[in-house]
Amino acid sequence: MIFYVFLLDYRFIMARIAYVNGRFLQHSYATVHIDDRGYQFADGVYEVIVMYNGMMIDELIHLDRLDRSLKELQIRKPVSRAALRSIIREIVRLNKIKYGLIYLQVTRGIAKREHQFPNKSQPSIILTAKSITMPSRKTIEDGIKVITIKDIRWKRRDIKSLSLLANIIGKQKAIEKGAFEAWQVDDNGKITEGTSSNAWIVTQNGVLITRTADHDILNGVTRVSILKLADRLGVQYKEQSFSVQEAKAAREAFISSATTFVTPVTQIDDVLIGNGKAGALSLSLRNGYIEYANNEGATC
Ligand code: PDD
Repeated sequence: MIFYVFLLDYRFIMARIAYVNGRFLQHSYATVHIDDRGYQFADGVYEVIVMYNGMMIDELIHLDRLDRSLKELQIRKPVSRAALRSIIREIVRLNKIKYGLIYLQVTRGIAKREHQFPNKSQPSIILTAKSITMPSRKTIEDGIKVITIKDIRWKRRDIKSLSLLANIIGKQKAIEKGAFEAWQVDDNGKITEGTSSNAWIVTQNGVLITRTADHDILNGVTRVSILKLADRLGVQYKEQSFSVQEAKAAREAFISSATTFVTPVTQIDDVLIGNGKAGALSLSLRNGYIEYANNEGATC
């Protein structure tokens, strides 16, 4: 059962609407309890789904990953998939999103603060949505800078956990160095992934490489779609780890995520990649991904 609670105040009539545990609320009034385990322990998971041209990209694959993350942490599903899909559509409609993000978070719920799982708790679910502007062609052609940092995260990065301290510290370091993203490096000198994106290179021989999706990285939904696209385009690719040196010697590099699609990387630390402009394969994968997002990747 879905309740609508609009605290009607005409100053907020155009305000953003959020969903919290069964109710649609004005974003500024949308709150959860201080004993929610998401707040106390980051005991929960999330997903980010993108709306592109009025359609969701890879909605069902995101929902599959959400189910997987919940299962790995033994958190019950708060609502059925059918109910969740209708809540998503309602949040999109209420916020009038054509290009934007849907943020979906589930926690183990409210309980007395004790580390072990509570005997009984109702999982909490929240959804928010916001519009975004797509980057200009020039931004994409110029590419972004990434820095490399030590990967200090826990060992289950395949779970899309709310616990993002290492990621936010990494992103902050990147911003302070004038970069867009930080590529995290494991103890063997190999790149795992970005703080909120997957990492890719194209070798001088034209082979596309991204790390194998095991416990060391989040298996990006965008990553999976790009691999399918590479298959279709006949691009030779390998899922294997690559070192910082290999990345710096690459012909091309890029990041992928729901929000950045395929975004070329033209500088890693102080080293320019290729000729310092977006690479040809990166651009064609970006275009291919956008076409996919407009067609078979889309649900409305
Ligand atoms: N981040 N790796 C990490 C650590 C991520 O946080 C993300 C996504 C990805 C790419 O996953 P996907 O292609 O499914 O978006 C890889 C989201 C966008 C975020 O945290 O906002």
